[in-house]
Amino acid sequence: VWSVDNDVENIQSCTQIVDAARLLHAGEAVAFPTETVYGLGANALSNEAVEKIFAAKGRPSDNPLIVHIGERQQLSTVAGEVPEKGQKLMDAFWPGPLTVIVPKNDRVASLVTAGLDSVGVRMPAHPVALALIKQAGVPIAAPSANRSGRPSPTTAAHVLADLDGRVAGIVDGGATGVGVESTVIDVTVEPPVILRPGGITREQLESVIGPVELDPSFEVGAVETPRAPGMKYTHYAPEGELWLVAGSEEQARIKMAELLSQAKIDGQKTGVLATEESAGYWRDHEAADVVLTVGAQADLEQVAQQLYAVLREFDNQQVQFIVGETFSREGLGMAVMNRLEKAAGGRILSV
Ligand code: TXA
Ligand code: MG
Repeated sequence: VWSVDNDVENIQSCTQIVDAARLLHAGEAVAFPTETVYGLGANALSNEAVEKIFAAKGRPSDNPLIVHIGERQQLSTVAGEVPEKGQKLMDAFWPGPLTVIVPKNDRVASLVTAGLDSVGVRMPAHPVALALIKQAGVPIAAPSANRSGRPSPTTAAHVLADLDGRVAGIVDGGATGVGVESTVIDVTVEPPVILRPGGITREQLESVIGPVELDPSFEVGAVETPRAPGMKYTHYAPEGELWLVAGSEEQARIKMAELLSQAKIDGQKTGVLATEESAGYWRDHEAADVVLTVGAQADLEQVAQQLYAVLREFDNQQVQFIVGETFSREGLGMAVMNRLEKAAGGRILSV
């Protein structure tokens, strides 16, 4: 593990970055911070290098990876011709939490694209990530740096917990800022389609390129198979069984308390995924063994930032049964609710 201070001047030449970049250049897998979550990177032009990512994560190989670039001119190392709306989105939101699916070229490693004729590319807004990619001198394929199926890592400690001994190194740049992954948008189709909600909201995208569609699998109660191959897997899940309860505050609390008392009768260690507004209520009522606060209902940025760390903390405390409230789907709420629904594996009750 190399620790890097995000504020240091001329970060690209600090020895930790130089050492980590050398390993990447040599075809090793190295974890690094981005503004969304930690990624596990490898040279996107080498199947042999990318293979190490799949091996370390235990990731199914039909799930394509996002390619990270450090400067705009690196785009041509992996992409073919980029549609105009794609260019506009890159101009507006890069560096930032937006992955743009564009036609691929024939240099990008076939394992990165999982046999598709498109490639997802993003330029992360994190000084350590940008310096590392530029120093490595090659585009970097990087999924989130968790074992497949676990919540994505938002600190180097999370990466270490999942991948210690399985990767060549970890660059520690502190806790990530956004907390949920990038938005994935496919601009090879018209109108463009959001394949995964994330750090850039639908409203922000539409303000730049006009109407965009939402993959039908994100509609509430949808049964369609998502078009982003990765979205079909169980993801982001804690080990305990999470139930979400939607409804008026009073009704939801009654239902949640009911679920908790049943779980207690069944002998399970219980938890509440609470907000700043509700945590006091749950603690006063001693309704669960563990009450963790993910942020304020009204502050979705904070909720996004803390969500994965809180899900992991339930695991650390070996909580077996968790209830949680739901959030607005406006803005960043779409990404937050998407990850929560995945974590709950469809266990959502409306009261
Ligand atoms: O914020 C992020 O995007 C993080 C950080 C590390 O940058 N990365 C990340 O990567 O979340 P990953 O591999 O966990 O998620 C990539 C998602 C998957 O759902 C995958 O199926 C989709 O993007 N994807 C990648 N390439 C694609 C393509 N060519 N067509 C459709 N979906 C694609
Ligand atoms: Mg992931």
